[in-house]
Amino acid sequence: MSKHNESWGSRVGLVLAMAGNAVGLGNFLRFPVQAVQNGGGAFIIPYLVCFLLMGLPLLFVEWSMGRFGGSKGHHSTPFILDSMAPRQFIWKYVGVFGIFTNIAVAAYYCYLESWTLGYIWHSVKGTFSGMSSTEVAGFFNSYTGFEDYQNVVFWIFCLVLNTYILSRGLSGGVEKVAKIGMPLLIAFGVLLAVRGVTLKAGSAGAEHNGTLGLEYLWTPDFSTIWTPKVWLAAAGQIFFTLSVGMGSIQCYASYLRKRDDVALNAMSAGWMNEFVEVVLGAAVVIPITVGYFGIEGMGKLVSEAGGLGLGFRTLPYLFQQWGPVLAVAAGVLWFGLLFFAGITSSLAMGTPVMGFLRDEFGWKRHSAAWGFGAIVFLLGLPTVLFFQYGAFDEYDFWAGTVSLVVFAMLEVILFAWIFGMRKGWDEITRGADIKVPIVFKYIIQFITPAILIFVFVNSLPGIWDAITNKALYAEIAKTTNPVAAAALKKKIFYVNISRSLLLATWVFIALLVYLAYRKRKREGRFTTTDVM
Ligand code: TRP
Repeated sequence: MSKHNESWGSRVGLVLAMAGNAVGLGNFLRFPVQAVQNGGGAFIIPYLVCFLLMGLPLLFVEWSMGRFGGSKGHHSTPFILDSMAPRQFIWKYVGVFGIFTNIAVAAYYCYLESWTLGYIWHSVKGTFSGMSSTEVAGFFNSYTGFEDYQNVVFWIFCLVLNTYILSRGLSGGVEKVAKIGMPLLIAFGVLLAVRGVTLKAGSAGAEHNGTLGLEYLWTPDFSTIWTPKVWLAAAGQIFFTLSVGMGSIQCYASYLRKRDDVALNAMSAGWMNEFVEVVLGAAVVIPITVGYFGIEGMGKLVSEAGGLGLGFRTLPYLFQQWGPVLAVAAGVLWFGLLFFAGITSSLAMGTPVMGFLRDEFGWKRHSAAWGFGAIVFLLGLPTVLFFQYGAFDEYDFWAGTVSLVVFAMLEVILFAWIFGMRKGWDEITRGADIKVPIVFKYIIQFITPAILIFVFVNSLPGIWDAITNKALYAEIAKTTNPVAAAALKKKIFYVNISRSLLLATWVFIALLVYLAYRKRKREGRFTTTDVM
């Protein structure tokens, strides 16, 4: 039995690490864009409802199932789920999602994370000073287009850094980074948010007050609130931002002791994420962009270049309008904040993969960390090399969106209906430092699964369109330009390759789970399919 010992150093460290897992690039780049694309004021209410009825309940579920599995010596979802369902062989394969998502998301996430390092470097160097808006935007294309391979250098550096921290363990690595990174991130975020909100029309070249952007976001728009698209987007954002449906919370929680609190910890980490997202995340990108381009102008920018565009193409240019000193400061604060947000999340993606390799195949911590680094490097290569051909978005769609919903739906059914809500509620409340309102018992049993099934069923048409590359073929049909058509066909080719790679990764992990299961049987180790 290769029961590895690893544990959190302190409660503060644990909560900060969990908050760091949740607080990520999604809070600053994905949230504002989702809000803008879904009509600003129409988005916030569905978003908060999804947080209360789906996000928080899933946090309780994932924290307590992690602690439950951990007490049986499991640190990744295949055998955590297995330990909850006596004699049902299928759950360890459902748990494959909880490893797959982490690997596949890390593959593109670490690349993005590495840009923040590159951009800190260029902000300090003053690369953007004196550039026009098109030049700053163009810099992004040359950066991701291998002009001088700096993107590759920063990417490899970022991977090595992640791997090194992971190899130092939970209390010696992950927790330390969270304790330094999270306070800095919040401080940087507050400074930028103050600047965003106090931006005045007429000063520093701005045309509107920064508060215009906030009004747009925070004035509820009841006329469009009932469109399914808005609700799907809100649910998707709650998943991504809280890191639920990914297997990383279960893994972090599996290093708790049996009687440690989960209820208050889960609440603290969850609310901290919401603070960073709806207060800080909403008060930087949107007010500043709206201050310069107005609401329509921002809408246009978002539809052209998305959140990455706002963060990496637009903001560095706008910072230049604040004078040379503030421009450097704002660049370092903004990309520094994104870096801390990113690294505390990518570390959380590494931990479940390491837990799996260590539990099942007896790998040592160092080898497991470098193993994760190597996998992310290999699977990340296509997103780096074929960035322009949509490989990145393809990974984000399947691993960062679809998988989360599927996994969360199945795990909550397992928790509430197979493990059973009576036992489940005992798990959630055991050792709890707060009284969890009893209404959550019923929410977890009925409402959360219902919402998840609803979200899943409603996303099926979109999934089908993605499988058949509907949007790309439609574009080909529309274009009369043969060069554009050829480019689109090339894109379809790379998209299909990326998709096949992801599928192969999933199947490969499932195979490892099968081998681990056989190994456990041979060694007479506990799996619920044999004994109970
Ligand atoms: N929650 C993170 C964000 O907002 C993303 C994230 C963290 C994640 N851990 C994950 C995504 C694990 C997938 C898998 O950016």
